[in-house]
Amino acid sequence: SDLAAFVRGLPKAELHLHLEGTLEPELKFRLARRNGIELPEKTVDEVKQTYRFHDLTSFLRVYYPAMRVLQRPEDFHDLAFDYLRRAHAQGVRHAELFFDPQAHTGRGIPFPTVISGYRSAIARARRELGISAELILCFLRDHSAEYAMATLLEALPYKSWILGVGLDSDERGNPPSKFAAVFERARAEGFLLTMHCDIDQPDSVEHIRQALEDIAVDRLDHGTNIVEDDRLVELAAAKGIALTCCPVSNSFVTAEMKSAQIVGLLDRGLTVTVNSDDPAYFGAYVADNYLALAEHGGLGIDRLAELARNSFRASWLTPARQDAFL
Ligand code: HPA
Ligand code: ZN
Repeated sequence: SDLAAFVRGLPKAELHLHLEGTLEPELKFRLARRNGIELPEKTVDEVKQTYRFHDLTSFLRVYYPAMRVLQRPEDFHDLAFDYLRRAHAQGVRHAELFFDPQAHTGRGIPFPTVISGYRSAIARARRELGISAELILCFLRDHSAEYAMATLLEALPYKSWILGVGLDSDERGNPPSKFAAVFERARAEGFLLTMHCDIDQPDSVEHIRQALEDIAVDRLDHGTNIVEDDRLVELAAAKGIALTCCPVSNSFVTAEMKSAQIVGLLDRGLTVTVNSDDPAYFGAYVADNYLALAEHGGLGIDRLAELARNSFRASWLTPARQDAFL
């Protein structure tokens, strides 16, 4: 449609994207073959059938086991480069990419294998496609704070390749405060800070409060439940804290896209952005997410362009590089 072409043509930044969430069934199948790994599924179609979820937990139960096909640096390279090629085709000019090192080091893949593969894909995409990308290291919140701290220390020799740190995985019972010391050390090391405050979690609003007030994050991932607390909406607006919303992901992990909440926060002056989260699993890359929100939230081209501008304002590009896109 005309709107689809318009959205694809808008220069966009993607700020909430898990590299491990870009593992398309075709690539999973190809990497399994290349690495001599036997999958329970015999065809790409059978792999596709396993990409079905009704909440965060059922998603994570498919997401982590799938990663065992990622073994060598070239596997991580292919995963990231395939994503960057797709994102580029959807109008993404800059991407800030989450990765989950513990999902790999925890199964015996060395940290340097993971980050060197991702890094070479980013360098190649810059050369061949002209897209820029940065890495954000996420800690798994359903593991201990000590394990997160050890992961941070392991990453320090690669500091120049990592822009910031984040927090993901199962949020229930794993509040931001659990990782206060890890995030404090990360900030002292020069990293920017963000974290997931997922949709409709127990204590969502308290987790958002901790992220904003106690941890003092630079950005919030999802964070959509902030709509339930006027004081926190005003605080985020005053501090200029942006939200990285993911409408199609919301529709998988809850019963709905939360379009009214997302558009409401945009109307109230928050720097709301639209992103794809785990596009291979949720079947929608970033332009698809803009279109889904447009359809469900009644947005026209002006609001869509505003969201695209927000994506650069919310990015961690320098002001001069942001301005080049605005
Ligand atoms: N939430 C929490 N953990 C995740 C997500 C998410 O949306 N995607 C990948 N890991
Ligand atoms: Zn996410």
